[in-house]
Amino acid sequence: MADLLLGQVIRFAGDPLREGPGAAQHIAEGAVLVEDGRIAAVGEAADLRGAAPDALRHDYGRHLISAGFVDAHVHYPQTAIIASWGKRLIDWLNTYTFPEETRFASRDYADQIANRYLDLVLARGTTTVCSYATIHPESVDAIFTAAAARRMRVYAGKTCMDRNAPAALRDTARSAYDDSKRLLQRWHGRDRLSYVITPRFSPTSTPEQLAALGALWREYPDCLMQTHLSEQPDEIAWVKELFPQSRDYLDTYEAQGLLRDGALYGHAIHLTEREKSRLIEAGASVIHCPTSNMFIGSGLFDIGLAAHLRVGLASDTGGGSSFSMLRTMAAAYEVAQLRGRSLHPAELWWLATQGSARALHADHLIGNIAPGMEADLAVIDLASTPAIAQAAGRAEDLWQAVFPTIMMGDDRAVAAVWIGGRPYSASSHPSG
Ligand code: GUN
Ligand code: ZN
Repeated sequence: MADLLLGQVIRFAGDPLREGPGAAQHIAEGAVLVEDGRIAAVGEAADLRGAAPDALRHDYGRHLISAGFVDAHVHYPQTAIIASWGKRLIDWLNTYTFPEETRFASRDYADQIANRYLDLVLARGTTTVCSYATIHPESVDAIFTAAAARRMRVYAGKTCMDRNAPAALRDTARSAYDDSKRLLQRWHGRDRLSYVITPRFSPTSTPEQLAALGALWREYPDCLMQTHLSEQPDEIAWVKELFPQSRDYLDTYEAQGLLRDGALYGHAIHLTEREKSRLIEAGASVIHCPTSNMFIGSGLFDIGLAAHLRVGLASDTGGGSSFSMLRTMAAAYEVAQLRGRSLHPAELWWLATQGSARALHADHLIGNIAPGMEADLAVIDLASTPAIAQAAGRAEDLWQAVFPTIMMGDDRAVAAVWIGGRPYSASSHPSG
């Protein structure tokens, strides 16, 4: 049985950050034909109505049909400590994050938060996340089980730490390798799930642990690897003390086989020229986490990097202060403004969909509306509140109509979500 979604359609023929806003395509009276979990066709409503007369119709009126949002860096275990007051990175980790992460030794608690987290993001139009779990293998089982129940494409991995963390949150080089490998073999490629090799960051891993995970990555080269890079000056100074032999922060990863394409570095704010050129040469991805970078006081990411390498956009829940990719786009706009650049709404929307998918090497599967791609969709109401409606009412083109929702929209703007070709209903997955 095919489904025909009718509304305004937004899709991308290219990267607006490199090719300009014209790389986005708007079909004002558009349609998306969905069949067997995939997008079968996209085009003018009149044409697709004729081509698929038997498809079940879903008329979304003037709503915008987009690819579902892709959040390229999150910590689902930090759901309950989001919006915790008053700390900067290392203190924030020690005060709020680590105590909360110890609770994930309980599979019941991990299940409860994983289900709650996925329902929160789905309500905000996010259909794929790339998440850190905790040190506990059960926390990986929990997020993948919750994702599979919703048929979501989700990326996640066990967070590895063998120093500078509470004893209850430490593994070893050996156990990090063994646990990660077992989880990878259990989950990678099952349903729509992908395992991500996940050393938390250099301050909490010995060179031996980084090397063990580098070795694991060589055994499973089609996996992604995620970690953090150059988020705050204090953190960078600490890395210098811990790794006196390294040229810079990136070198602590590079030296252990943790730099190549498929590497995802969260934050990447305070980079040296050598680090930038090595990231570009290696074909790595960097992930912009703007609400987090402001909330924890980290700094202003240089979006100019997107001209040279894969840049994803992310909420970084719960260092980030929102579960919403709309709010995250707004923060990316504001950060770029502070650096003298006005990101076009097409650039922001691309970063939250196809750009993040590209950072995850999944842009052939998700993050856009094109025949053959997986039918993960968000249907956006561009007049979801009186304040947004009155601003959008003055718009003279699509992007003027979209921008108030980017800046002021929240879960009320998400009229419907489709996952793998089926409409998603939160009531079928009561969260804990
Ligand atoms: N660096 C290492 N761990 C974390 C984390 O959990 N959140 C953020 N924002 N930065 C980190
Ligand atoms: Zn993070």
